[in-house]
Amino acid sequence: MSSEPTREPAPALSAATRALFDREIAKYPADQKQSAVMACLRILQQERGYISGATEEQVAQYLGMPPIAVHEVTTFYNMYNQRPVGRYKLNVCTNLPCQLRDGARALHHLEQRLGIRMGETTPDGLFTLQQAECLGACADSPVMLVNDSTMCSFMSNDKLDQLIDGLRAAGASESKAGQV
Ligand code: FES
Repeated sequence: MSSEPTREPAPALSAATRALFDREIAKYPADQKQSAVMACLRILQQERGYISGATEEQVAQYLGMPPIAVHEVTTFYNMYNQRPVGRYKLNVCTNLPCQLRDGARALHHLEQRLGIRMGETTPDGLFTLQQAECLGACADSPVMLVNDSTMCSFMSNDKLDQLIDGLRAAGASESKAGQV
C-alpha cells in the first residue's frame, strides 16, 4: 500500500475537537505536548474515517511538530488509515511465520470471496482488505484483525466465510437502522 497521504483539504478543527486535543495534551508535561500525537490522530480518524495529508498538517501545527514526524506515525501504525476504508477493515497477517502456516491461503480466499485484491475496498463500501505486519499471534495462524480491534485466529476457509457472512448481515442491519 502506498504511504502517500491524500491531498484534499481538511475541514477546520471544531471547538469540540480542540477541547478533546487539549484534554490529551494535558496528560503530558507542557514542553512535551507532542506526546499526544497518537491520541489526536485517533480523534480525527474517528471523526473523518481516515488521516489525509492535510489532517496530518493540522495535527502537526496544533502540537508544534514537523508534519513529517506526524506522517511517520501514521505510516508506522496499521490502525491509521491513509485513505477512506470500508466499514470493516480486514488486516490479514502476511509475515513469514503466518505465510508458512496458511496465511497466503487465507488471504487468497478472502480476495476471491470479496472479489477484490489486497489494498482494495469492495464497491459497496463494506470491506477493505489489507495486509498486516506480525500481530503477535503467530502460533494461531492464519490470523487477522477486524477494525483494528478484534483478533481472529485459526482462520480456516469456513471460518472466514462465516466471518464475512456475519459482518455482511451486521452491515445490512446497521444500514437499515440508519434509514429509520
Ligand atoms: S507472523 Fe503473523 S502473527 Fe506473527
